[in-house]
Amino acid sequence: MTNEINIFSPATVANVSCGFDAMGFALESLGDEMIFKKTDAKEVVISKIEGANLPIEARKNVAGVVAQNMLNDSHADFGLDIQIFKNFKPGSGLGSSAASASGTAFAVNELLGKKYSDLELTKFAMQGEVIACGSAIADNVAAAIYGGFVLIRSYEPLDIVSIPTPDELVATIIHPQIEVKTEDARKVMPSEIPLKTAVSQWANVGGLISGLHAGDFDLIGRSLVDHVAEPARKALIPHFDEVKSASLDAGALGAGISGSGPSIFALSEGMETANKVKEAMNAVYKDSGIDFSIYVSRISTAGARVI
Ligand code: HSE
Repeated sequence: MTNEINIFSPATVANVSCGFDAMGFALESLGDEMIFKKTDAKEVVISKIEGANLPIEARKNVAGVVAQNMLNDSHADFGLDIQIFKNFKPGSGLGSSAASASGTAFAVNELLGKKYSDLELTKFAMQGEVIACGSAIADNVAAAIYGGFVLIRSYEPLDIVSIPTPDELVATIIHPQIEVKTEDARKVMPSEIPLKTAVSQWANVGGLISGLHAGDFDLIGRSLVDHVAEPARKALIPHFDEVKSASLDAGALGAGISGSGPSIFALSEGMETANKVKEAMNAVYKDSGIDFSIYVSRISTAGARVI
């Protein structure tokens, strides 16, 4: 059995506008790298973290907690040394903690000889999300494990549905370098919504799922509407409305908050349009005085993987 494994775990966009806590997708060209080595000592040690200031103590680290839980559950006769190379920042709205949690769940499962299903790996990774943001949210971690678009059809019992990804769908994402903690962004969410709002929201989720299945880009675009989280959260993100309308003017199908923000995502048909959206986002932010990064990426249909 393998004793060492290097993996890539993708950044993810949760919610996808209308699907608060219920939808997500994985990015192809942005994510973390991690190295896992089996050790004789039956403990989990994080020996290196590069690219972010995160707890090195395993029991306080998302990766450490997920790994330890899996070793305990499987009665493994080995310990682990973990190295983490973060390529995007925590608090970005791109599933940073989820990339660590899912990457760990995936890698430890490989070292255990693929003992667990993707659904079980998602449950382990969700325990990491509790450490990171106080809630066992599945949208980022499921997207990072399954790849492509996912629907969390139910939390109890957990039911994850993989949704097809049209080949030509490309994401453009701007990450303003301010930190919005998921915990804080959840506090501004309404605890109740009017029935009329709920009807619009679930109708758009149906439209988005149907559009992804059919490869109907117009329907995907018409469905990328968020009546619930976006109105409550957009005030946390400088220039949100300008970025959104500039993205749509540049040809994006739709745009919205990536997860709990502050990143803003747009989806486009084709790389050429996605790059025009990048220029449009750049034009909004370049004189804002806020540092930012922009990523253009296809959707990863593989999720966490060995490299
Ligand atoms: N669905 C979550 C939220 C994603 O929007 O709060 C953050 O991890």
